Amino acid sequence: MSLTGQIGVVTGAGRGLGRDIATALAAEGMSLLLVSRTREQVNELAEDLAGRFGVKAFPSALDVTDPEAIDRVVMHAEQHLGTVDLLVNNAAVIEREQVPFWESDRDDVWRVVETNLRGPLLMTRALLPPMVLRGRGRVVNLASRARAATRTGTYTGYAVSKRAVSLFTESLTEPLRGTGVVVLDVLPGLVRTDLTLSMPTWDDVTAWDDPAATATVVRDVALGRYDDRHGTVLDAPALAAGG
Ligand SMILES: NC(=O)c1ccc[n+]([C@@H]2O[C@H](COP(=O)([O-])OP(=O)(O)OC[C@H]3O[C@@H](n4cnc5c(N)ncnc54)[C@H](OP(=O)(O)O)[C@@H]3O)[C@@H](O)[C@H]2O)c1
Repeated sequence: MSLTGQIGVVTGAGRGLGRDIATALAAEGMSLLLVSRTREQVNELAEDLAGRFGVKAFPSALDVTDPEAIDRVVMHAEQHLGTVDLLVNNAAVIEREQVPFWESDRDDVWRVVETNLRGPLLMTRALLPPMVLRGRGRVVNLASRARAATRTGTYTGYAVSKRAVSLFTESLTEPLRGTGVVVLDVLPGLVRTDLTLSMPTWDDVTAWDDPAATATVVRDVALGRYDDRHGTVLDAPALAAGG
């Protein structure tokens, strides 16, 4: 298996796209730190991946907005797994209600921005230095076109945070060029998960994108197949369709 000996960290691995991404990486032999807040979900996934693929899989019930917890977990990962080769910033949340911004719960909007933006910033800040020092590593940020927000004027925190994460990717692109560290955005399309099922705007959708497209693209990033696309956005459904 071609990722044997490599170490990945996947946030939001407990369910949805994160679970599919972690499974695709483990199937190639990558050992993993599986992060999300619901302990039972990451525990169960770690056991499943270790049993099925013979990889090391460590569950971590971590909140990506907690810097001290991140430091502890990163230290644990480096001690027990080794230097991290791949970070997948996948964990995200969306507003509880689909209402225009001027009717929104300001604490809920901030919860979304904090999780979706501060989370990737903190995780990347913790894991990037050893990658740069070693001259090798890859960071994937899960991006979104936030079509629901631009169409309906709702889910403002989600839209703002996702655009900001893409700007974060952009801001790292030139400084990281030539360091051996690659950063990329991956767009999943519209995938049926707890996140999208909580959004009334998608109630009538029948043709969902395949989560396997996203998992395959992230696996291929880990394999170095997109290193020449450093700093760009990979559209998973388009790539799966041969685009
Ligand atoms: N589904 C789509 O169509 C779609 C489209 C475009 C982009 N995306 C992006 O793809 C990614 C995955 O989305 P999804 O649809 O798979 O969502 P999901 O099914 O709701 O899963 C989100 C995951 O993130 C974890 N998480 C949430 N807050 C966290 C926190 N503070 N700390 C650690 N983990 C946390 C959740 O676990 P806990 O609640 O247990 O922590 C869960 O495992 C997101 O970045 C999303 O923006 C999705």
